[in-house]
Amino acid sequence: MELYLDTANLEQIKEVAELGIIRGVTTNPSLLAKEDPTVDFKQRILEIHKLVGGHLSVEVISTDKEGMIREAEEIVEWFPEATIKIPMIPQGLSAVKELSKKGIPTNVTLVFSVTQALAAHHAGATYISIFLGRLDDIGYDGIGILNDVCEIWDVQNYDSLIIAASIRNPLHIIESARAGADIATVPYNVLMQSIKNPLTERGLEIFLRDYDNYLTSRQKSMLI
Ligand code: G3P
Repeated sequence: MELYLDTANLEQIKEVAELGIIRGVTTNPSLLAKEDPTVDFKQRILEIHKLVGGHLSVEVISTDKEGMIREAEEIVEWFPEATIKIPMIPQGLSAVKELSKKGIPTNVTLVFSVTQALAAHHAGATYISIFLGRLDDIGYDGIGILNDVCEIWDVQNYDSLIIAASIRNPLHIIESARAGADIATVPYNVLMQSIKNPLTERGLEIFLRDYDNYLTSRQKSMLI
């Protein structure tokens, strides 16, 4: 399972890209709306693209098929490797069908059920984003639905790639990997939390303290 960063924040992308653990970034209109409003959409996306060098999903804001296709074609003119995020609505499925014919990769977003995932696959989606956290928020079992999707994708030998999205905690990352998701797109705070452990920090403190004590006693013994 690959890790993507779910953000439109340049500082977060810079910091995490340095660690060498992410293979892409996913954005959405809400994430972009959190950033500096004086920077225009295209400029922000191109800045992210320059930093990431891997997968970058950019979401359309039109809700009609023609508008979605127009936006998608515009985005791939900015950078040809773009993946276009399309909402899981009927007009979105028609747009995915057209974009797939044109060879433009799509990421169908706002997917909350197995049947929606199946429809996205059959329309020609390259990626399908299952929203775990938002399902959990309303009392559904996000990981359970992801498990079902991954099991069916295995049995049916489907080639569309499953993204575990709306990740809220490190357990979501572990369970997504166990389910067999191809990718987990993780917010900055959850990703940073997932690589930390108090035992690592404490262990390092002890190593450094012990080595310091060793150096002090060596210096002392050389003075004797
Ligand atoms: O990028 C889509 C998804 O990951 C959004 O997550 O936390 O807004 O439910 P969230």
